[in-house]
Amino acid sequence: MIIQLIVLIFYICYLCGASSSIKCANDSTFDADLDAKFRKDYSHGWAVRHPTLANLYNDFHCKVCIEIGIARGELSQVLLKMVPGITDYHAIDPFLGNYDNANDAMSQVLAEENAPDKWANAVIHTMKDYGCKFKLHQGLSSDMVKDFTPASVDCAFIDGDHRYEGVKSDIKLYTPVVKPGGLLIFDDYSWQFMGVVKAVDELVDQNHLDFVKINKHNNYYVKLPDTPDACAALIL
Ligand SMILES: C[S@@+](CC[C@H](N)C(=O)[O-])C[C@H]1O[C@@H](n2cnc3c(N)ncnc32)[C@H](O)[C@@H]1O
Repeated sequence: MIIQLIVLIFYICYLCGASSSIKCANDSTFDADLDAKFRKDYSHGWAVRHPTLANLYNDFHCKVCIEIGIARGELSQVLLKMVPGITDYHAIDPFLGNYDNANDAMSQVLAEENAPDKWANAVIHTMKDYGCKFKLHQGLSSDMVKDFTPASVDCAFIDGDHRYEGVKSDIKLYTPVVKPGGLLIFDDYSWQFMGVVKAVDELVDQNHLDFVKINKHNNYYVKLPDTPDACAALIL
């Protein structure tokens, strides 16, 4: 009996520890300087793809979502605003620079800032209107996968480490987390990121999946098979 009690206490401690890297959007302390910098630096063209992605999430009734690689959280913010059906938005990012040998512009910006915790705080401050609907899992996608149970997510957006090994690993680890009939959505499927192209092509070709173009901004999606058995048979 005493041993069982000790095991139970350890298990509860483990669960608390395991979830400690997850922060809701109302957990942040406001840093005015970083917040100002964070907003000023936003000058890239990613926003053009946001409306078509929001349409996709609405059409497929995405409720529980994952975004791997959120940068400043602009896509997260747009989707939470434009997709009313979202109940849980899991954002995964370590906010570490030079993650892909600085090929992606964000990789250089994060390296110059070199302050992952402050960056995380600025992101969750930006998302404060969404409270615990927005959950930040601060860490590498390969580590944060422990926070998810199999077949628990409707839509997973893969936009983290753009190298072949990074995308391949995200596909392998996160496909089982997506429900049968759910979506894997890809960013930067283009000649600039041949690692993305290679890893995604392997998934599509090996499994004879339909690969659907979402917009002209290099976003595509794959719908997983509708049955658990067919999902379990996927080659990843
Ligand atoms: C192109 S940005 C993401 C842009 C964002 N999805 C948007 O649309 O606004 C890529 C992000 O991936 C993150 N990243 C890089 N390697 C990662 C990894 N192994 N796991 C999770 N995120 C990663 C980077 O920190 C960076 O913020």
